[in-house]
Amino acid sequence: MTTRILNTFNQHLEKRRTQNRLRTLYHTTEPVINLMTNDYHGFSKHPLVSKTPSGAGGSRLLGGNHPAIENLEKHICQALSKEACLVFPSGFQCHQSVLETLIETNEFVVIDDQLNHASLQTKQSKIPRYRFRHHDLKNCEVKLQAAQKRYPRLTPLIIAESIHSMDGTVLALPAFIELKKKYKACLVLDEAHAVGVCGNSHLGLADEHGCTSDVDIILGTFSKGLGAMGAFVATQKIIADYLINYCKGFIYTTALSPGLADIIQSRLERLNQNDYFINRLRHFISEFSPVLNTTNTHSPLSPVFQIPFSSNSSLCEARDHLAKHTIAVGLIRPPTYPQNMLRVCLSSELSDHNWNHILSSFDKLALEARN
Ligand SMILES: Cc1ncc(COP(=O)(O)O)c(C=O)c1O
Repeated sequence: MTTRILNTFNQHLEKRRTQNRLRTLYHTTEPVINLMTNDYHGFSKHPLVSKTPSGAGGSRLLGGNHPAIENLEKHICQALSKEACLVFPSGFQCHQSVLETLIETNEFVVIDDQLNHASLQTKQSKIPRYRFRHHDLKNCEVKLQAAQKRYPRLTPLIIAESIHSMDGTVLALPAFIELKKKYKACLVLDEAHAVGVCGNSHLGLADEHGCTSDVDIILGTFSKGLGAMGAFVATQKIIADYLINYCKGFIYTTALSPGLADIIQSRLERLNQNDYFINRLRHFISEFSPVLNTTNTHSPLSPVFQIPFSSNSSLCEARDHLAKHTIAVGLIRPPTYPQNMLRVCLSSELSDHNWNHILSSFDKLALEARN
């Protein structure tokens, strides 16, 4: 690497450092109550115990198509009443490659939420694209009208998150479905933070509303509420067949670990058999909402909370206050999200003792430091 290139990297890093926004990896040595991760039931801490092989040994099309993977796909298909499901080894890679494959057909005009997760943001700059205000139905309709006028031949591809990864707001899914029908659009729903958290089969918001057949492409991840890794796309058979043939992120990667596929399926079955996990999570959500004392009502389904701060220094102060009380929370700042905020993720695994400690610490400390 030339000195010039290294200097360029350094300048960019220096800029972040002076803005107090430099990202660094760290680990905590002290025991903390972790409200940062997306581990909504603490499943990620469970040991990997499976008699099924740890590795697929190859891509799905070259020897890696293990029955455990197919069983998981069948389970998801049946639960969501979808014709087809394909699993991928990572959510980010699944979203990027599925969307890229669809968009490369030149059949779509993208209508996406302006705060969509980075994995949903398509890299091609030349595609026709309109961005609507976050979870804003009316603004989405304005963009659909503009797209229809300018690109009458193309099908609008609406892309949104169901439970938003950063602010925890929940999409008004039935209304968005009405809208997509009105404009003959396709709807892609990222259920990353809803899988394991809501739904009759714990597979997300569309599953919760019983409207899976109205969502053209359901994307879900196993990395959050199910505490594992990997992702799925559930859709029509012809779309899955197209992906098997043209989606590079499916064709040219080692398949999801079969052992993990087994574990993921057993975690879904566990959630289906035992209400304890969801009931406990919902109980925490209902108790935490009033503590924040915000004017916005928080959805009873969403375990993700945002606490906005006007300045970076007050944000850091609040984080430090909580850290002194052994509570670790996520610090979110631009460009990840437009506003400075603490991101708090609740988990059903929290003990009663820790939960009471969390409630009193947030009440007394973080909110005093606010603004
Ligand atoms: C909304 C959303 N979609 C997709 C992803 C990517 O999933 P994975 O972590 O499995 O790659 C994430 C992860 O942070 C996410 O928050």
